[in-house]
Amino acid sequence: MPKFLNKLYTTFSHDIGIDLGTANTLVYVKGQGIVINEPSVVAVNQKTGRVVAVGSQAKDMLGRTPAHIAAVRPLVDGVISDFEVAEEMIVYLINKAQKETKKKFFGPRVIVGIPSGVTNVEARAVRDATKNAGAREVHVVEQPMSAAIGIQLPIHEPAGNMVIDIGGGTTDIAVISLGGVVRSKSLKIAGDKLNNDIISYIRNEFKILIGEKTAEEVKIAIGVVVPGDRPHEAPIRGRDLVTGLPREVVLTDADIREAISQSIDNLVDSVKEVLETTPPEVLADVMHRGIYLVGGGALIRGLDKLIESNVGIPVYVADDPLTAVARGTGVILEDLARYEDILIQNEDDLPKAQ
Ligand SMILES: Nc1ncnc2c1ncn2[C@@H]1O[C@H](COP(=O)(O)OP(=O)(O)OP(=O)(O)O)[C@@H](O)[C@H]1O
Ligand SMILES: [Mg+2]
Repeated sequence: MPKFLNKLYTTFSHDIGIDLGTANTLVYVKGQGIVINEPSVVAVNQKTGRVVAVGSQAKDMLGRTPAHIAAVRPLVDGVISDFEVAEEMIVYLINKAQKETKKKFFGPRVIVGIPSGVTNVEARAVRDATKNAGAREVHVVEQPMSAAIGIQLPIHEPAGNMVIDIGGGTTDIAVISLGGVVRSKSLKIAGDKLNNDIISYIRNEFKILIGEKTAEEVKIAIGVVVPGDRPHEAPIRGRDLVTGLPREVVLTDADIREAISQSIDNLVDSVKEVLETTPPEVLADVMHRGIYLVGGGALIRGLDKLIESNVGIPVYVADDPLTAVARGTGVILEDLARYEDILIQNEDDLPKAQ
């Protein structure tokens, strides 16, 4: 790009990193840091097709909207399920970020994180939605790679690093070395699945129906995957399936453990599977350097110790795990040339959609 054009762009536009998550979307603006951190929810008026609210405002409407308003999560399992709504959300985010920075003559240059293991069609959908939302230039990066960069792992060195990103829709397990993903696995067992496990368990055990929000709150409040010295308890309210009336029961951490045990076992098995197929030299590095947990699921109490005891490798919860991917996009934006090799240049290189 000619020098004068480059200068023009840096003066009158800006660079943005987006972590488009199933549960939360974060926006990083170069030179400023994370300026937006909102739930990935959009409320749409179905009569007019207009977006009524985005983010936390829309999340508060989930399950409480009148008939003509729908609160939608445009991403399911880490990929765009509703293209139009996703695009509306990205437009809103770019506009909001531009307002914060007061520069908006040209569209921004944008880096978007996508889950590892998405198909070429899904990755292209993200790129197109971002382009249509007004981005001048779009770069796509795999979320575990971005997270590894965000938590300052030496991804360019010839040393194996393992990152597990446990989000809302997907868990991405990745082994990275020399700027590339050596082994990875993406599974649809993450925060949302655990919430659903809790809903099913309470329905079966107590004959009470609870909502997703309640399930998530109780998971965060008392969930712990290894038994501790003292029990944790929390009351929950739902609808009694027999009488149809509200009823309260007191849950313990043992209930939550039981409810999510199958999913947690599957997650641990997947970590083992990735390790089993990792080349020996890289595996030796990972044993030495440890495994890093990022994403909101990294905060599940005891999960680090549980994985550690199952695979025999030290496991660390990254600092501020929910912002790791967004911080990574920030690091990439600050020095795009250095990270050019890790960006996804061509969707045709990704697995074909089934
Ligand atoms: N303290 C906590 N304990 C357990 N789970 C938590 C905690 N805090 C957040 N979570 C869970 O983390 C998930 C959200 O994490 P995160 O924001 O990393 O997901 P995401 O990036 O939006 O999703 P994805 O990466 O799958 O697209 C939610 O399911 C939430 O319930
Ligand atoms: Mg995520």
